[in-house]
Amino acid sequence: MDNVTGTRSPAPEVDEHWMVNRRRALKWLIRAGYGAFALAFALPALALRALSQQQSEVASGDPLVYASNAGGGTAGQPVMASDLAVGDGIQAFPQGKDDNQTNLIQIVRLGDGEGAEGLVAYSAICTHLGCVVYADLNQDGNIACPCHNSQFDPTAEAEVTGGPADRALPSIELSVTPEGIISVAGRFSGPIGPS
Ligand code: FES
Repeated sequence: MDNVTGTRSPAPEVDEHWMVNRRRALKWLIRAGYGAFALAFALPALALRALSQQQSEVASGDPLVYASNAGGGTAGQPVMASDLAVGDGIQAFPQGKDDNQTNLIQIVRLGDGEGAEGLVAYSAICTHLGCVVYADLNQDGNIACPCHNSQFDPTAEAEVTGGPADRALPSIELSVTPEGIISVAGRFSGPIGPS
């Protein structure tokens, strides 16, 4: 600006160093803001994910309930060992964990017996491409898949006896509570479905 004498006033001195530091500080504040914003969304999502995995994974001691109104049972009703005659097959979920199809369990009674004797259980998810197998055994006594007719022998660790599947259905140990309810006594012997 010109002064009264007509000469231009010198421009105010700018502290370059101070300006650079200020810009850097602002950048970091903006980055921190983005980080806090992302965390606010990510943390609850991660917590929910962990909770749902914890709740949906089959665990030893889980009582089993009917997966549907089939095999003489009602969906959600506990499966009693006495419900199954020799040759029967039914499908069940661990109680309270029926939101996760990988927990679907195929139970077959191969013979009479006390407790879990005579009962076997496998994943009900076909190892070919992941369809749900039929609950009822087929005429050859095999567990069969409706999609491409893979067949699994329940008397021999569900080994493949026909069709395109190249891996047995993973097995899972059972026990029976004093009240006669079939429950889980271990974990699946291998990965569920195609792998
Ligand atoms: S998905 Fe079961 S045979 Fe193909």
